[in-house]
Formats: sequence, structure tokens, C-alpha cells
Amino acid sequence: MTPQDASVETLKLCELAPVIPVLVIHDASIAQDLARALVKGGLPVLEVTLRTPAALDVISEMAQVEGGIVGAGTLLTPSDVTKAVAAGARFGVSPGATDTLLDAAEAADLPMLPGAATSSEAMRLLERGYSVQKFFPAEANGGAAALKAIGAPIPQVTFCPTGGISTKNAKDYLSLSNTRCVGGSWVAPQALIDAKDWDAITKLAQEACALV
Ligand code: 3PG
Repeated sequence: MTPQDASVETLKLCELAPVIPVLVIHDASIAQDLARALVKGGLPVLEVTLRTPAALDVISEMAQVEGGIVGAGTLLTPSDVTKAVAAGARFGVSPGATDTLLDAAEAADLPMLPGAATSSEAMRLLERGYSVQKFFPAEANGGAAALKAIGAPIPQVTFCPTGGISTKNAKDYLSLSNTRCVGGSWVAPQALIDAKDWDAITKLAQEACALV
């Protein structure tokens, strides 16, 4: 898959809902219930971070949930790409980008949403063909004001900002011309997952959908 084709795919994902839940899940047995709750609330695109031993099993489980589109986040190495694809991930997300990682994703036909934090990083990815990127870590990196400023000279790049975003500041990003959606963990808080309060998570998803 070319970077251009990958960007077409990731743009479609970003246009499906205003928020991509970023999920750090420790227990695969709740994966399907959680995915169903988020999809029911209107958030079909789910990013499962490869930060827990259960993450690949979580992806396999969530990939079976009707209406969901499950990807793997925190991809750092070619081996992560291979494992994510084998688990059923339909897209990949990385906090930054290396040529090695992008080579692996392109060879595996995995649409990548690669991370950039600066203009130079965004330009380098654009040069390779990635016109859709993750802006990370968004809040620590200057927030919506910084992303707006990057968009002035580089309007060709569409971003999904992630990191420190919640209902309090999501609209600041979503109102930018270079932002299609945001990523965030706030729609699936650990306390609600532990309590298996799927209705509350569906409500948070619905509130997230109402941001635009
Ligand atoms: C992450 O990689 O953890 C994401 O950026 C999510 O960040 P958040 O927990 O601040 O939403």
C-alpha cells in the first residue's frame, strides 16, 4: 500500500466520527462489550494501544464486533505491525514515525496514521506521501493554537490530534480546518471499564459525537 492510498483510508476513518477512542485495555474478556458500547454510542473507529500484554487479544476480540473498525496504536517496530495485522487490525497508529516502521506498514498493506509533533516531522511525512497524520502529544505540544499555526504554512496535512484531549478542549481542535477528528482516552475511563458500566461509556461516546 502506498502512503497516498494509506492516507485516503485514514482520512475516511477520521471522517466517520469526531473522536477515535484510544484504548489501553488489560483484560481481553471485556473487549467485545467495550467495543459494542462505543460503537452503539456512535464511535465506530477504535484504537487499541499495544501497551498491555492483552492488547493483541483485545484487537482480535474487538475485530469481531459488528460495526466496529479496530486499529492498533503505539506501533513502534516492524514486529508490532506484523502482530497487529495478524490480530486483525485494520489500521495502525504510531506516536512518531521512522522509515523502518513505515516500510513495514506499507509492505503489510496496513493504513498508517503516523505521528508528527513539529513542522519538520509533518513535512517529512508529507514528502513521503502521508497527508493524514496524528499530532502528538497535542496538548503538551502547544495544543490547538500550535496545530492551527502549523496549518497555516502546511495546509495540505490533515491531522488527528491526540494526547491530553477531553470534552473541555476537543472543540478547539475540531473547529480547525486541518483537523478532522481527535483521539482520546476520556471516552473509556478505567473506572467505568472496571465497573463494566457499558451504558455510561455509551453515553460518553454519544456526548463525544455531539461535539460537532
Ligand atoms: C495516547 O497515546 O495515550 C493518546 O495520546 C491518548 O492520550 P490521552 O490519554 O491524553 O487521551
